Order: sequence, then structure tokens, then C-alpha cells
Amino acid sequence: MSAVPNTFENVKAVILSAHKGTTSKEKVDFYNSWAENYDQDVAVLDYRAPCLAANSISSHFHGDREAAVLLDVACGTGLVAKQLKNHGFGHFVGVDGSEAMLEVARESGLYQDLKQVLLGEDPLPVQWENAFDVVVIVGALSVGQVPVCVVRDLCKSTKPGGYVCMTTRSNRDNLEYKASLDSELRQMEEEGLWTCVEVTQVKDWEKAVSEHEDGYISGAVYLYEKLQV
Ligand SMILES: C[S@@+](CC[C@H](N)C(=O)[O-])C[C@H]1O[C@@H](n2cnc3c(N)ncnc32)[C@H](O)[C@@H]1O
Repeated sequence: MSAVPNTFENVKAVILSAHKGTTSKEKVDFYNSWAENYDQDVAVLDYRAPCLAANSISSHFHGDREAAVLLDVACGTGLVAKQLKNHGFGHFVGVDGSEAMLEVARESGLYQDLKQVLLGEDPLPVQWENAFDVVVIVGALSVGQVPVCVVRDLCKSTKPGGYVCMTTRSNRDNLEYKASLDSELRQMEEEGLWTCVEVTQVKDWEKAVSEHEDGYISGAVYLYEKLQV
């Protein structure tokens, strides 16, 4: 981590450079190069998604927080587990495609287990089916990152009666992805796999970095409960 925080213009340039990468592999390579400065750079963007997701989980989870086991998908450096720990949760397993992001998460000491998985290409381990009290994915369900089909694996890994918490951006370049995510979430509800607990639309999600947007972009937090089968 560099001693002096980056300026907003520099962070913007770093993120726009990642838009050149189109495959999941290229995106993960970008995160490998960003890992060391990620936490302080996203603070410059006023990135609140980990806090908003943790608040949503915390306000609906009524079980034993110390005993609960949570799967943090696309965990990055560990910002989501850090927030959830403040709400009394203590057992985290993390997966991410970027080894360098995982290394920072490992150094945080927050996770019992961390695994490198390229979502959309590699499946989650079969022994994780119906295994977790909560599955959470923050900042990774968006165009060019984790494909929409992966939400079925998130549901599979959740215990019946457990929660799946997901976030996505609602800004211009992610609208098509978001529409397809919304449609898949609805389809899974119609199939009786889960039920929607709440969807929170957030106006000031994070600072805009694209050329055609300024101020803040909007986003959403989804919370679903897996149904008993
Ligand atoms: C914006 S960061 C979010 C990290 C963390 N959840 C947070 O909120 O700070 C996106 C993360 O998703 C991971 N990622 C993106 N696409 C992925 C994929 N297809 N498979 C696995 N990880 C992926 C990146 O490596 C990165 O760590």
C-alpha cells in the first residue's frame, strides 16, 4: 500500500484502464495488479457496497452469529468480511479469481479458508452444496466480471433457510447485465428455489468514474432466502 492516498483522478484512470480487459481472465489479471492499493483506492471512490450488504444481512439474520459460516464470493481483499465481523459474524470462507487479492485477504486473518476460483469457468466445490448460513457477493456481479449464471451456484451453496446477498450497479454500462440478473433472480423465485426478502435501491452507491457520468452512480443490494426443499 502506498503511503499517500491516490487522487480521485488517478483512481479513475486505474479503473478505466481495466475496461480494456474483456475476458474474466483479463479482469482478474487487472485485480492482481490493483490488489496492493485496492482498499485505499476504493475508499477514495466512497465505495459503500460492503457496508450496505453487511447491513442488509445483519438486519434479517436471526440465528447464532458466532456459529454461522459465511461464504464470501469474489471476496477480494476482505472488505465484506471486515464489515460482517463488526456485526458479530466470525466464520468466513472466501473465494476469488485473483491470487493477489486473496493474498491480501489471507493477511487480514479474517478467513478460515480461501480458495482461488475463476467463477463462470470453475465450479464451486460440490462439498459446499447446502453448506453455508449466508452466501454473499459484493462488487463482482457486473459486466465483464462474474457471469449471471453463477447466482445458481450461490443458491446451491446456501443451507435451506439461509440467505444469499448480492449487489450490482445500476449505471449505464451495467444496465443490460442488471436486466439479465433481475430476470434470472425472478426465474429462480418462480422455480421455488428462493424467495426475495428485500431489494434496496441506493442512489449514492459510489463515485462515477466513466466519461459520461459524474457525481454518484446508483446500485442495489438484493437479499434472498433459500427455500426448504
Ligand atoms: C470490485 S472487487 C470486490 C471485492 C470485494 N467483494 C469488495 O467488495 O471489496 C471484485 C472482485 O471480484 C473478483 N472477480 C471478478 N471476476 C471474477 C471471476 N470471474 N471469478 C472470480 N473472481 C472474480 C476480482 O478478482 C475482485 O477481487
